[in-house]
Amino acid sequence: MKSPHSSESSPIVLHEVIPWGRTLNEYRRMFALSDADLKKRIAGCGDGPASFNAEVTTLGGRVVSIDPIYVLSADDIKLRFEQVYSQIVEGARANLEKYVWTDIASPDEMGERRRRAIEMFLPDYPAGLSEGRYVSASLPDLPFDDGAFELALCSHLLFTYSHLLSTEMHLEAVIEMMRVADETRVFPLLTLNGRPSPHLDPVLDGLRQRGFTAATERVPYEFQAGGNEMLRVTK
Ligand SMILES: C[S@@+](CC[C@H](N)C(=O)[O-])C[C@H]1O[C@@H](n2cnc3c(N)ncnc32)[C@H](O)[C@@H]1O
Repeated sequence: MKSPHSSESSPIVLHEVIPWGRTLNEYRRMFALSDADLKKRIAGCGDGPASFNAEVTTLGGRVVSIDPIYVLSADDIKLRFEQVYSQIVEGARANLEKYVWTDIASPDEMGERRRRAIEMFLPDYPAGLSEGRYVSASLPDLPFDDGAFELALCSHLLFTYSHLLSTEMHLEAVIEMMRVADETRVFPLLTLNGRPSPHLDPVLDGLRQRGFTAATERVPYEFQAGGNEMLRVTK
C-alpha cells in the first residue's frame, strides 16, 4: 500500500463537485471501451453516483469505484443530487450552445438520464460498499497496491474542474492512476465551461518526461461542444 500523500496540492472540497453520474453506455463511448476492456480489472476514479460499476457488475465485470463521496449514506447522496438537479438542468438551458443536443435531446432529458444513472447506482451502493466495490478515497492517493488494476478511468473530474485543481495535482493524480493500473484514460479534456483545459499540455509534457506514453484520442462521445477527446496513458 502507498503511504499517505504529502503534497500540498489542494483537494476538491466535496460540495464544490456535482454528484452527477453517467451510465455504462456513456462510459463506453467517453472512454472508447471495447468488450475486452470491460473484462479488465477497472478502477473508476471519481465515479460518484454513476451507474457504471452497478451495470458492469451485473454483466460479470470487476470495477472498483473510488470517490470521497462514498463516506456519505445513500440517502445523503440522493439528497445532494436532488439539491443540485434543477440548478444544473436550468444551467444547461441557459447555455444551450455549449452542448451538442443529438444523443441527449434537451436539458430535461439530460436530467432524466442522470436520474436513471443514480437510480441504478443507489440500490447497488450498500452491497458494493460491503464488497469493496465502492471505496471512499481521493486522488491523488489511491489505497491500492501497485498494478492492482489493468485500467484506470476518470471522467468529469480532472480537466473538468481545472479551476479547482492545480496542474501539479492533475499530474500527481494521473501518475497515481498509472501506479495502480497498466493504463489510464481521462475524459473530457475540457473545463466545466467548455474550454480546453490549461493543464492538458503541461500534464502531457510531465507524463512524457517520466517515460509514459501519453496522447489525446478522439472518442465517439460529445456532449460538451468540442468535448470528444480523451487522454490515454500507457507505460
Ligand atoms: C461530476 S462527478 C462525475 C461522476 C462520474 N465520473 C461520471 O462522469 O458520471 C465528479 C466526481 O468526482 C468526485 N471527486 C471529487 N474530488 C475527488 C478526488 N480528489 N478524487 C476522486 N474523486 C473525486 C466527486 O465526489 C464526484 O462524485
